[in-house]
Amino acid sequence: MILITKGKSDMPIIEVRGLYKTFETKTNTVEALKDINFEVEAGDIYGIIGMSGAGKSTLVRCLNYLETPTRGTVTVEGQELGKLGDKELRDLRSSIGMIFQGFNLLMQKTCLDNICFPLLIHGTPKGEARQKAAQLLETVGLSDKAAAYPAQLSGGQRQRVAIARALACDPKILLCDEATSALDPQTTQSILQLLKKINQETGITIVIITHQMSVVREICRHVAIVENGEIVENGLVADIFTHPKSKAARRLIIEGKDPDEWEKENGAESATPGNARAADLTTPILHENRRIRIVFGTTSSFEPVIANMILTVGHPVNILKADTKDVGGTARGEMILGLPEDKDVQEKVISYLREHGLDVEEVD
Ligand SMILES: Nc1ncnc2c1ncn2[C@@H]1O[C@H](COP(=O)(O)OP(=O)(O)O)[C@@H](O)[C@H]1O
Ligand SMILES: [Mg+2]
Repeated sequence: MILITKGKSDMPIIEVRGLYKTFETKTNTVEALKDINFEVEAGDIYGIIGMSGAGKSTLVRCLNYLETPTRGTVTVEGQELGKLGDKELRDLRSSIGMIFQGFNLLMQKTCLDNICFPLLIHGTPKGEARQKAAQLLETVGLSDKAAAYPAQLSGGQRQRVAIARALACDPKILLCDEATSALDPQTTQSILQLLKKINQETGITIVIITHQMSVVREICRHVAIVENGEIVENGLVADIFTHPKSKAARRLIIEGKDPDEWEKENGAESATPGNARAADLTTPILHENRRIRIVFGTTSSFEPVIANMILTVGHPVNILKADTKDVGGTARGEMILGLPEDKDVQEKVISYLREHGLDVEEVD
């Protein structure tokens, strides 16, 4: 008698069950994710689409526990993340690469050194790291840019370097949060083709977060549609395109509109109710562990202070929330920033902002 047992490969590589994420701020409570359930098969390209503020970035950050869910479980390759210790979680995270809209390259390092960086952190000898980085530059079609600095590259080329860096430690999963949102349609196309090629050649599982239906149509096999923190519909892209059930899917497919177009026509406020809409100013950073709220009401212009601070300090910050109003030419409101891990950088950011007249307080 031959017993056929279910192999490990039959198990979904990512499984999310009953996931909730609630953010408590001093002024309000935001239920960013509500009872999220889905699974991703190994080797799949899985899209998560929704409007700005729907909860996509929060969801993707829960997949590697950069954000700890309020309730529910995330299981990656059979390991329930909530049950892992710090070291196990760090190890698991190194099997998950991530790319963002804002590339996050180290501007003072060459392309090759940017790709070497995660390898050196993981203790790979320098020569080996450089060899691996050179191979990856070839994979992303940028062999001739090894010695170039990010500032010398176009947006598409920077994203290619970021992809190479994300692949450096041979991850099994690649998470892409709005990775093509800052690119023109032609460059978007070439990045999507590159991701598809990498998926086919290596079998890496890719999760694509996007607000553009065209991206899902182009590259994804499965898709989940997120609206107001909930998955309203998910399944094979081909099925959802032919038989959309939810209002959101019909709007996206039948009307052929990307959420941002829809939002433009109907006004941002109608897109998601109340404060559920995030500011799209985010420049995500890889790791952040400290959050501050800045309250302002006296500066004549707010954004240049942040931009100048970033230029002075030389590190990006994560704008997690921005709620500003223009009152007679003066910006009033608050902003929540996620700071990089480096304590010195954190202090520099905080003192710069205080020196420039902003109230800074810690956020839990
Ligand atoms: N750290 C945070 N603190 C408070 N609210 C947050 C935080 N991160 C996200 N949110 C809120 O959660 C909701 C979902 O945000 P997000 O996941 O960034 O949406 P998306 O990526 O789909 O635009 C928004 O209302 C946003 O303001
Ligand atoms: Mg987002």
